[in-house]
Amino acid sequence: MTKQIFEAVNLKNGQTFENRLVMAPMTTQCSFHDGSVTDELIKYYATRADGPAAVIVESTFIDNYGRAFEGALGADSDDKIPGLRKLASAIKEKGSKALIQLYHAGRMGSPELNMGRQPISASNIKALRDNAVEPRTLEIDEIEAQIELFADASRRAMEAGFDGVELHGANTYLLQQFFSPHSNRREDEWGGSRESRTTFAERVVEKVKETAEEYGKSDFIIGYRFSPEELEEPGINFDDTMYLLNTLAEYPIDYFHFSINNWQRTSIIDTDDEELLIDKYLRARNSSLKAIPIMGQGVLNLRKMHKMH
Ligand SMILES: Cc1cc2nc3c(=O)[nH]c(=O)nc-3n(C[C@H](O)[C@H](O)[C@H](O)COP(=O)(O)O)c2cc1C
Repeated sequence: MTKQIFEAVNLKNGQTFENRLVMAPMTTQCSFHDGSVTDELIKYYATRADGPAAVIVESTFIDNYGRAFEGALGADSDDKIPGLRKLASAIKEKGSKALIQLYHAGRMGSPELNMGRQPISASNIKALRDNAVEPRTLEIDEIEAQIELFADASRRAMEAGFDGVELHGANTYLLQQFFSPHSNRREDEWGGSRESRTTFAERVVEKVKETAEEYGKSDFIIGYRFSPEELEEPGINFDDTMYLLNTLAEYPIDYFHFSINNWQRTSIIDTDDEELLIDKYLRARNSSLKAIPIMGQGVLNLRKMHKMH
């Protein structure tokens, strides 16, 4: 086990993670009110960037109206680039690769956080949580615009010197909202069937890759984080997730990142099923998925894991 943790991992795009430890994205709510980088944020990340192969900077909004909480970090405008550049440099100087997680809150946002704007989503279905606000259904041209916003934020990450982005397709934010049959009730090409609900994620990945190529950075890392299941009915199940990952695997994804609160998690839908979700994934993955490293996380106890293997 010890040997594996310190073994390098080669990514499809030619980049290498020098070991198998990565700092998970964790929101600090330490940015300025407009989402720009503070000195505290730089110190926080610089202190932790000595050791892990990569540091994934916390969820960062791509749209001024897409915040999920106060003090969130933003990559929504070019004036954020100088601060982001300081942040990326502080991480890279300590030896870790610098990645940044990009998200839009969608229906997880609220008017209070977004200058009075009603949240947007694939459809006008409220999230199942207290005080959720009914979102506005995006028009087709607005969906295209959101894809551009992911690409623009990725371009800013490149200009700031980040080694890559992690697209936040988890934790019920906009990317997940398009894939989920609970939040996506559309009947056009962006919803309805599982295939159509996958289109938004596909187009975002494709556009970010195109942007990297245009920018002369074919080795820019593109990761994708996902939540494997939802409790909502209808909701995402593990088969759906395998469909999503198999589809995205055909695009240039460099790693997939599980979002689970415990690496030993079993199904939250079928509570009689005792197989770990990660084992289920390893059993189900095909040769395309085998070529893509996965990140697991949640309550990692290396001593206990060592005893188990
Ligand atoms: C304070 C805090 C903030 C977090 N913020 C994010 C985030 O911005 N993006 C994300 O994908 N996950 C976020 N997470 C989840 C973590 O990335 C990770 O999955 C979780 O902490 C489980 O791992 P652990 O048991 O090692 O803490 C956050 C977790 C915590 C505790």
